[in-house]
Amino acid sequence: MEIVLLPTPEDCARVVADAVAGSVAAARADGPVALGLATGSSPLLAYRELLARHRAGEFPTDGVTGYLLDEYVGLPAGHPESYLQTIRREITDELGIEAHGPDGAAADPLRAALDYEERLRAAGPVAVQVLGIGANGHVGFNEPGSSLVSRTRVKTLTERTRTDNARFFGGEVDAVPRHVLTQGLGTIRDARHLVLVATGGAKAAAVAEAVEGPLSASCPGSVLQLHPHVTVVVDEAAGSRLTRAAYYRYVLAHKLPAQGW
Ligand code: GLP
Repeated sequence: MEIVLLPTPEDCARVVADAVAGSVAAARADGPVALGLATGSSPLLAYRELLARHRAGEFPTDGVTGYLLDEYVGLPAGHPESYLQTIRREITDELGIEAHGPDGAAADPLRAALDYEERLRAAGPVAVQVLGIGANGHVGFNEPGSSLVSRTRVKTLTERTRTDNARFFGGEVDAVPRHVLTQGLGTIRDARHLVLVATGGAKAAAVAEAVEGPLSASCPGSVLQLHPHVTVVVDEAAGSRLTRAAYYRYVLAHKLPAQGW
């Protein structure tokens, strides 16, 4: 696991864009590419950076298809706050690529979870998966207590996550769906490269627990420790509780030229 501690969120965005673009470019040589995308505020600056590179011709996306981590259950198809609409608005429309996610509007969400798992299996493995982390350590919508080998399924959100996400629903917690469909932690682990980005002090405890804490379903983000290719990109505030920060900086400063992301 590589921990990249950087001064600002803008610096983080550049490194995330480098890591994503590098993994996509490598995978494109072998055919169609599944690109794993996360919603939430954390990756937004990196998405802007990727869009700028795309416009400049530096991030070609033909043959690339976007796949979401998760989706609310019960929002009507096309709802502006559905994750599929959000990701289209934020990145995939402008990249000129299709995006797919679990069908949260399906009459049978349990079936929709299995269908999405199957779709990922057919299209995968995901070349690179962008991840954020919730303040309680969740990744995707895998709340604390999620099995580290879970697959795509229905989950019930904690009140904390619903409160955190109420800002997207006019501040009304009651408007945030209670249930979601999310790739499981085992599904996420199937991606070739995981790139997690976190910025701001509110994420400091979750980042430290995920990266340096025990492997535990109580911190779903700790599943990163089970993956052979992980890049964790954090600003000073989000990395402020990492006990090995000095070592991570030392590693970064002495990276071999051949070591990419
Ligand atoms: C949301 C999403 C996650 C996201 C996380 C953090 O609920 N399901 O995919 O990573 O919470 O969100 P943010 O980046 O806005 O802090």
